[in-house]
Amino acid sequence: MGNDLKEILVTAEDMDRRLGEMAEQIDRDYAGEELLIVGVLRGAVMVMADLSRKLHTPLEMDWMAVSSYGSGTKTSGVVRILKDLDQDVAGRHVLIVEDIIDSGLTLSWLQANLLGRGAASVKIATALRKPEAAKVDVDVAYVGFDIPDEFVVGYGLDYAEKYRNLPFVGTLQPHVYNN
Ligand code: IMP
Ligand code: MG
Repeated sequence: MGNDLKEILVTAEDMDRRLGEMAEQIDRDYAGEELLIVGVLRGAVMVMADLSRKLHTPLEMDWMAVSSYGSGTKTSGVVRILKDLDQDVAGRHVLIVEDIIDSGLTLSWLQANLLGRGAASVKIATALRKPEAAKVDVDVAYVGFDIPDEFVVGYGLDYAEKYRNLPFVGTLQPHVYNN
């Protein structure tokens, strides 16, 4: 797997430190409240596990799986729910936890959808954000790292379902995509 990597953008130590800072901010912002944190499968598994263990705010964890209809590699913003929440979000403070925000279209839809179900608030936390995300009107309250517009893997992110288990975030050598 080492031969497939080009560059490490975020080390495991950097991610751990940054998630600690984000958790402190989240604890301050939700002081006196209870949270429902919602992980978006499958990429957000690592962030959910690591961020949740740094939070002191009382919380419950739930999961959603969504798929975006799109042509080719670009998401269209039309979303299908593959696995819905087990919890009712009405009246609850929801924090959506994501691995990466690229176009932001999926999250924009998800935020509106959960607000539509009567959530008291719906905020977003993401480990990574790409520049495109700035173009969409989605308010991301907590961002780990802003990264360049490159395809990255690791820390939950995959290429063809591989590399999710890398503890850091990195880019791949061109030969990987040519196989
Ligand atoms: P969007 O923000 O609606 O475009 O969708 C973002 C989703 O696309 C993320 O949750 C990832 O699953 C996937 N994605 C976007 N950029 C990357 C990347 O660089 N590597 C791996 N997956 C990515
Ligand atoms: Mg994802």
